[in-house]
Amino acid sequence: MRSLINILDLTVEEIDELLAVAEDIIANRNKYSEICHGKKLATLFFEPSTRTRLSFEAAMMELGGNVLGFSEAQSSSASKGETVADTTRVVSCYADIIAMRHPKEGAPLVASMYSSVPVINAGDGGHNHPTQTLTDLLTIKRKKGKLSDFTIGFCGDLKFGRTVHSLIQALSRYTGIKIVLISPDELKLPSYIKSDVLKKNNIEYVQTDSLEKVLPDLDVLYMTRVQKERFLSEEEYIRLRDSYILTKAKLKNAKEDLSILHPLPRVNEISTDVDEDSRACYFEQALNGKFVRMALILKLLEITVD
Ligand code: NCD
Repeated sequence: MRSLINILDLTVEEIDELLAVAEDIIANRNKYSEICHGKKLATLFFEPSTRTRLSFEAAMMELGGNVLGFSEAQSSSASKGETVADTTRVVSCYADIIAMRHPKEGAPLVASMYSSVPVINAGDGGHNHPTQTLTDLLTIKRKKGKLSDFTIGFCGDLKFGRTVHSLIQALSRYTGIKIVLISPDELKLPSYIKSDVLKKNNIEYVQTDSLEKVLPDLDVLYMTRVQKERFLSEEEYIRLRDSYILTKAKLKNAKEDLSILHPLPRVNEISTDVDEDSRACYFEQALNGKFVRMALILKLLEITVD
């Protein structure tokens, strides 16, 4: 039985295979519509979510399966003091697969140790978010036709942004990737990722606080929200929240074939006048999230289709 806690739990070959299955799902929806008949996905969300939870649920429904779960800690027995271990033990009696989001780093890993069914990390604190990474990789692959030889800029909250951490880990295993880290000093990428991922894998990277300066060099721009909920001081959040705002005017100097990604939700870091630009991919990216999660559910339930 396999779980997905960290994106590195999957080999590069497995990721490529998942993306290929997602492409096949996009092309042949009917083939997959009843394949999870009788199976149940539990979504245990101890933290707010729109896309991740609903795309997981839509994914299972479009495979012909059912869903159960909760969308806030308050409506679960966690509010009575139940541990993640106990909740998972119990839910794995009711469901065939679990997707869990939790504010505490490591909670889905603990869950996977107590579960009798596969557990998927749907975001743990400021740590990891592997299924968003699969979504991001599918989007980049569909836009660029490849997952190698491009320059990607990560802009915004690189300290707390778990989607950034997981995507950097995933990209470190492909070739010819150049990474530009754009953030204010206070929100820089954690040093453990720089040493254990970027330096260890000889990934070329630069750090800057200026989006304007580096924008013309980028093939992919990954914008992020400043993660309000992870700040200890509201004052600090208010000071940093408007660090970067991408506007149509700023895009004048960007490449014609730039792809702009954002895991969403956006607050104000991409102005709505960018939405109509053909380089904006973030809503497409949200759609891709459903297809890649369908592929992942099939893989972890060990269901194959001819
Ligand atoms: C992200 C998350 O939850 O980490 N959202 C998502 O899953 N699409 C990004 C964010 O909340 O800023």
